[in-house]
Amino acid sequence: MAGPIPDLEERATRCARRLCEADRVLLASHIDADGLTSAAIASQALERAGIPFETVFEKQLDEEAIAGIAATDYETVLFTDFGSGQLDVIGEYEDAGAFTPVIADHHQPADRDTEYHLNPLLFGIDGASELSGAGASYVLARALADVAEAEIREGVSADGGTPTAAGEATATRDNRDLAALAVVGAVGDMQASGGELHGANERIVEEGVAAGVLETGKDLALYGKQTRPLPKLLEYATDVQIPGISGDEAGSLRFLEDLDLELRREDGEWRRWSGLTNEEKQTVASALVKRAVSRGVPAKKIDQLVGTSYVLSEEPVGTELRDASEFSTLLNATARYERADVGLGVCLGNREGALERARKLLRNHRRNLSEGIDLVTREGVTHEDNLQWFHADDRIRETIVGIVAGMAMGNDGISRSKPIVAFAEKNDEEIKVSARGTHGLVRSGLDLSTVMTDASQAVDGDGGGHDVAAGATVPKGRESEFVERADELVGDQLS
Ligand code: C5P
Ligand code: C5P
Ligand code: C5P
Ligand code: ZN
Repeated sequence: MAGPIPDLEERATRCARRLCEADRVLLASHIDADGLTSAAIASQALERAGIPFETVFEKQLDEEAIAGIAATDYETVLFTDFGSGQLDVIGEYEDAGAFTPVIADHHQPADRDTEYHLNPLLFGIDGASELSGAGASYVLARALADVAEAEIREGVSADGGTPTAAGEATATRDNRDLAALAVVGAVGDMQASGGELHGANERIVEEGVAAGVLETGKDLALYGKQTRPLPKLLEYATDVQIPGISGDEAGSLRFLEDLDLELRREDGEWRRWSGLTNEEKQTVASALVKRAVSRGVPAKKIDQLVGTSYVLSEEPVGTELRDASEFSTLLNATARYERADVGLGVCLGNREGALERARKLLRNHRRNLSEGIDLVTREGVTHEDNLQWFHADDRIRETIVGIVAGMAMGNDGISRSKPIVAFAEKNDEEIKVSARGTHGLVRSGLDLSTVMTDASQAVDGDGGGHDVAAGATVPKGRESEFVERADELVGDQLS
């Protein structure tokens, strides 16, 4: 069981105190599931602490975005899920007195530090697998609640009065209810490796369970347990290939129809996994394992059929919001399509309008992912000595090309024993690069963050990220040079 991390919490308290001193705060966050949940956590914590704020989202915190932020008249800027990797640029603005940065991030920091910098990597915690941007924001939110409460108490004892109703409400809020969003962020950043969350993330899970907002348990490790009709749940599950079921519509139907269970509703529609009784779940799961065994699926793969599920217990059964993994995909479907406002609305519980709009965006996102994966698989990748790559030009959106690359790994002709590098057009002058590895490759020495940083700088670009997933922006026309440099760097790391 994960214990407290005193240094991290101390730093969080320092950051929280600084935020409490501000008249108002500009909150800037990243446009993906982790960035959205980070912003949702931070904004609720600021609101509860009585600190006025405004929220902005950026696709990439590049020099232009930082200049735009500096041009506002906010004196305090809270960066969540980015900022560490851009501390060199942010620091220049800080030196010039443009604003004071407070950062809650988990990306590899640039070669410079600052006073209000909360990042697990500064405290020996792995930012790629043990704490996400939303996790760092959660640690900050917990500290904000403590600092705000202490200030109320001091205020009360100083004037000898009794606490106000607002003060009482704030004082009883410890922000542990925000742990559910932190788990959605971690799962969205693929930190649940091997089927469960580890390290500092585990502690957040415990707090969420204690606060009554999360439930965890061993369950089928397939994507879509809340919303997919059972045959689709089985057919679309491809992480563990079960012959006659995975990718096989008729096979999945037959498999379910052959079970001695009422798996259809009265109107003939298939039920969802989340609506089955425990007994029904047991029956389906053991039949599935039995089928996998009989078709020769290796035991190690069969183990992967079961994992830890993270259920948001206050959300309605059968909705995307109840499952951390489905929730995170719903958020990516908004933020990566310039509708971060919709995703943030969903996180903040503005369900009426936002959820319907998010679901529409999700249908579009799924179609794009599936078309993207088909395209890459059909056209294939180019294999270098140490990596494989493809160029999507403008056929895959640059904001999702990394997700596509990661999901395509393991398909025909696309290896899981080499990292994959994907290019897509960003604009007339720039190309977006996304790189994805596996945890196995990271154990062998792969660090894509360094590869993206160094290879992009070699071609006048800019990059960063995590060991297992990273990205960059490079000038159009410099892709081959970039590949050559990246190939060498990966070769050095894995030798
Ligand atoms: O910027 P941020 O840290 O939020 O994004 C991390 C990205 O890396 C996510 O898109 C996530 O899906 C991806 N990732 C991955 N495989 C991992 C870890 C992260 O594809 N094992
Ligand atoms: O879209 P997002 O980056 O959140 O996807 C995270 C993971 O969820 C994917 O790598 C994939 O394993 C799973 N997923 C899926 N089917 C989808 C969307 C996501 O299996 N339609
Ligand atoms: O955009 P993509 O999903 O490929 O990003 C993977 C990781 O690399 C993310 O954590 C992202 O924040 C990081 N990245 C970066 N600098 C870039 C592009 C991506 O740090 N220029
Ligand atoms: Zn993140």
